[in-house]
Amino acid sequence: MTSDRRAALRIDGDRLMRRIEDLAAIGPIDGGGSCRLALTDDDRAGRDLVVTWMRDLGLDVSIDGIGNVVGVRAGRTDGPPTMTGSHIDTVRTGGRYDGNLGVLAGLEVIETLEINGIETEHPVAVGFFTDEEGARFPPDMLGSLVYVGGMAIEEALDIEGIDGAVVGAELDRIGYRGPSPCPGPSPRAFVELHVEQGPVLEAEGVTIGAVTGVQGISWTELTITGQSNHAGTTPMALRHDPAYVAAAVTAHVRELATRMGAMGEGRQVATVGRIELHPNLVNVVAASASMTVDLRNTDEALLQEAESDLARFVAEAAAAEGVTVAERTLARFEPVAFDNRVVDAVAAVAVDLGHSIRRMPSGAGHDAQMLARVCPTGMVFVPSRDGISHNPAEHTDPADLVAGADVLLQTILTLDQEPLDR
Ligand code: HGY
Ligand code: MN
Ligand code: MN
Repeated sequence: MTSDRRAALRIDGDRLMRRIEDLAAIGPIDGGGSCRLALTDDDRAGRDLVVTWMRDLGLDVSIDGIGNVVGVRAGRTDGPPTMTGSHIDTVRTGGRYDGNLGVLAGLEVIETLEINGIETEHPVAVGFFTDEEGARFPPDMLGSLVYVGGMAIEEALDIEGIDGAVVGAELDRIGYRGPSPCPGPSPRAFVELHVEQGPVLEAEGVTIGAVTGVQGISWTELTITGQSNHAGTTPMALRHDPAYVAAAVTAHVRELATRMGAMGEGRQVATVGRIELHPNLVNVVAASASMTVDLRNTDEALLQEAESDLARFVAEAAAAEGVTVAERTLARFEPVAFDNRVVDAVAAVAVDLGHSIRRMPSGAGHDAQMLARVCPTGMVFVPSRDGISHNPAEHTDPADLVAGADVLLQTILTLDQEPLDR
């Protein structure tokens, strides 16, 4: 392929938008988003649609023991592919671009290569990984973690979800416990297109983010046990109220993030996303509270400091209220730095295509942070309107979606020509 022909190559934006709309129509929720929690029937339907598209493109499709799906287009040579992809499972209030864009843009890149009769030096693969969100089955990035050998498949299959379902049984139920081995084959490089899910690119009027890495993630589940009692007859001084401790912890993590946010280069963030009381009734002092705390920072030492601060506060609050607390780690991933060769390729391609760019870390977790363990890896970000995500109002302008997919196409072609020994 001549350099002029390659430079002129572009994806078909209408085809990409049609696929995004078709996938968003599975598990639709008010506001234009989707709910396809991992391994539910809606996730199965989304998987079936994307696998059909992969097969229609003539890709060699494999499904592994944790349900990761990878489609490969042959290259001039055999060997590890240049890989792209993301996830198609969503949170309960998901938008239509989180994860889906990366998978469907990968399909679009391959279709563009096919239609233009372009043979790459190396195979090109597009995949979707199981349970990236971790919202039903923690931790997040479960499928890609198993794919790179970060968790044994046996351990992953036994994970129980927030609804009591178990990963292995759900994979069997939806027919996606595949024959391909875990860990999976390491690609020669991995690059993921994703919406930023934050406010930075839009605020700065920048189209493309060349992502330098992913911040560290710490998820903890607290089970607080007190004494159920009558709301009317129990004097305040005699109460052992888990709801009160859960509320105190919630207020504390906001204070903690505000206080630590001013420290170091990274922004400390902290979220209480789930609180469930039992028996959850208006006239009963709760017997127990189950809650989650999500802490993140680009700096590992500061993240550990935040974890220690939280543990101290929980112990003090529990002692003062006379309740007990059981802690369970749901996810713990250190910050990840992407390979400069891939980050530089994304940046150079974006400039060649005439787009504004900025280098930036990712606040959200992504499958790319797992693939970075086994091959040169990077990400491409496009702006999120009002920085909103994990919300059906999630939106990225079609022109930016197309720009991101064109950057992905050209980055894959750049990496195809690079001698990427690990
Ligand atoms: O939690 C995350 O950052 C991602 O959405 N799984
Ligand atoms: Mn995502
Ligand atoms: Mn997400």
